[in-house]
Amino acid sequence: MSKEDPVILMNRVSIGYGDNATVLRNVSLSLKKKSFHFLTGASGTGKTSFLRLLYLGMQHTSGRFTIFGRDISEIAAKERCQLRQRIGVVFQDFNLLDHLTVLENVALPLKVVGESALRREHQAKEILDWVGLGNCFNARPDTLSGGQKQRVAIARAVITRPDILLADEPTGNVDEVIAHKLMGLFYGMHKMGTCVIVATHCRQFVDKFHYNELRIEHGFIVDMNQTQKGMAK
Ligand SMILES: Nc1ncnc2c1ncn2[C@@H]1O[C@H](COP(=O)(O)OP(=O)(O)OP(=O)(O)O)[C@@H](O)[C@H]1O
Ligand SMILES: [Mg+2]
Repeated sequence: MSKEDPVILMNRVSIGYGDNATVLRNVSLSLKKKSFHFLTGASGTGKTSFLRLLYLGMQHTSGRFTIFGRDISEIAAKERCQLRQRIGVVFQDFNLLDHLTVLENVALPLKVVGESALRREHQAKEILDWVGLGNCFNARPDTLSGGQKQRVAIARAVITRPDILLADEPTGNVDEVIAHKLMGLFYGMHKMGTCVIVATHCRQFVDKFHYNELRIEHGFIVDMNQTQKGMAK
């Protein structure tokens, strides 16, 4: 795979639940390494479902979907797991494990890739300090506020420096200062080469940071960058 190849390539991809419930249809997209996209659309239009497809949490119903140059329909379960390790996800409902401490939650992805216990602890502490949770290492997630949980989820998603980072409403539960700090973290990941996709309702961010917008409307994804380029011709 060359540097210029898209990390995510879709040709007329559709997704849905059950037999007749198509959520998104005929999505054709090419997203590069080191690119940043906001994913927007009204509640219930399919943002979370689209991210679920991208982290290989659901199958597409038609079309061709390639990630890191690999056709998802043609790979075995083992390879899916390997690809999945290159994707960091901040879930809308956090998905933290309440029986583990905050530190253990954040260090978990490093355990999966076989890092030593010492390095796991060191890196998890560093990133937790950075998101302002240096005093919560041993807390259980169910004792934290919504905004604190969100920051734990973000720390866990970025700790492996993934090639793709997917964040579902990552600033929904934090104040403006922390929201800007988190956007700074995503920006840093993007600058280091990660393809970042942030689903958000926050128009203020979309307008302020001039990144590409993928807007979901009526079951289709409109790539606003492409649309604006087309209009400028
Ligand atoms: N697990 C599921 N099973 C069946 N239908 C689902 C499932 N998850 C989502 N849907 C349906 O898919 C559609 C898109 O939902 P989705 O959660 O992707 O929207 P969203 O844009 O993320 O909404 P929000 O902004 O409220 O988070 C909705 O009609 C929803 O009811
Ligand atoms: Mg959602």
